[in-house]
Amino acid sequence: MRIVDLIEKKKQNQEHTSEEIKFLIESIMNGTAQDYQISAWLMAVYFNGLSETETANLTQAMINSGEVIDFGNLTDSIVDKHSTGGVGDKVTITLIPLLAAAGVPVAKLSGRGLGHTGGTIDKLESIPGFNTQLSIKELIAQVQKINVAIGAQTQNLTPADGKLYALRDVTATVDSMPLIASSVVSKKIASGAKNIILDVKYGSGAFMKTPEDAVGLSKLMVNIGKILNKSITAVITSMEEPLGRAVGNSLEIIESIEFLKGNIKTGDVAELTYSFATIALLQLGIYDDENEARNYLKELVESGQALEKFKELITAQGGNPDIINNYDLFDLPAYKVECESKKNGFVHNIDAYKVAYACKLLGAGRDRKTDPIDYSVGIFLNKKTGEEVHKGDILYTIYSNDPDKTKIAQKYCDEAFVVNENKPTSNNMIYKIIRVEDDEDV
Ligand code: URA
Repeated sequence: MRIVDLIEKKKQNQEHTSEEIKFLIESIMNGTAQDYQISAWLMAVYFNGLSETETANLTQAMINSGEVIDFGNLTDSIVDKHSTGGVGDKVTITLIPLLAAAGVPVAKLSGRGLGHTGGTIDKLESIPGFNTQLSIKELIAQVQKINVAIGAQTQNLTPADGKLYALRDVTATVDSMPLIASSVVSKKIASGAKNIILDVKYGSGAFMKTPEDAVGLSKLMVNIGKILNKSITAVITSMEEPLGRAVGNSLEIIESIEFLKGNIKTGDVAELTYSFATIALLQLGIYDDENEARNYLKELVESGQALEKFKELITAQGGNPDIINNYDLFDLPAYKVECESKKNGFVHNIDAYKVAYACKLLGAGRDRKTDPIDYSVGIFLNKKTGEEVHKGDILYTIYSNDPDKTKIAQKYCDEAFVVNENKPTSNNMIYKIIRVEDDEDV
């Protein structure tokens, strides 16, 4: 077998056998497949797709490329949540201390920014000293000790996904359903949790642009889970505008802390955090009643217990917990530019992709897989969709270290904001839930 033949086969839109997929992944792992060959294969998959069986085989081959975590007697109660990627998506950071404060063990392996989307690991690394490079042993030990741990996808776990992920990021091959499905599901299965909640995003800031595509991706992931004997719940959520008000690494940590302090009670971040946490508590049988579960979770935030858990998490992973009360301890940007509305009206939409693009330009994301990122830069949305604005009100604020980049970012953000006379109707954040057990829509 030769890699070039596999590229040719996929270019001709033919189906790979499981042996061919196994060979491809093994060649990626032992270095005989070159980056340019893998990139060509990824592009062929981008255009011609993979069948469900090929996707399941790819998922299994990626799982086999590394270790699978065994949480022993914690396995049944552990919750893992994963997002398919969005803009300003800090819900993992708000959710995991909340669930841990509710007594639910959470073990989370997260990724870095991908394409235009941000990554939880990059965001957490903006906390001075925070160590995301946990070994599997350390991850398990920390969950046993404080109920929560979060680490970067380790080289031991689905290392093949690590290589593909980095190449996809720089070859414009991220937004492919089978590649996303195999990447997400392989990581989740290898991470060893029994209760898996997937946040499948659609909209301008997501890899899936329409709710229908997000349903397709969700069903693919739930089905692959079934083929590989794992139960997955997919929650389809909107990513038409950035999630929350902050986009950029340290800005998003600050917004998460504000939520955990009880200062953000409504809006999309609160809605999704409480919804995912409620789903987890119901799924684990800790609560039968949705309202009771939600009220209990709100109480954990109001009483400071969720924030306390986050502090414990930061401390356990070597970070400076003082950032919670002193945001000046983050890297600070040189410039803060407030941009005003040019007219009266209501915000109808904020194109998440354009805001993400502006953020990446400022340095919050990568162009090449080895690029460093600037934790301090980003964009704060002073106004969100549905809010009234008057001419001269601040629409958004750019945090930057470069005046030229600031100007270009401002151009993209101005394009992203649509302000009209009439108040827009509001849409639900959650479009649909596709259940684990029966793959039926609810
Ligand atoms: N998140 C992942 O883990 N992988 C993808 O391919 C996309 C989002």
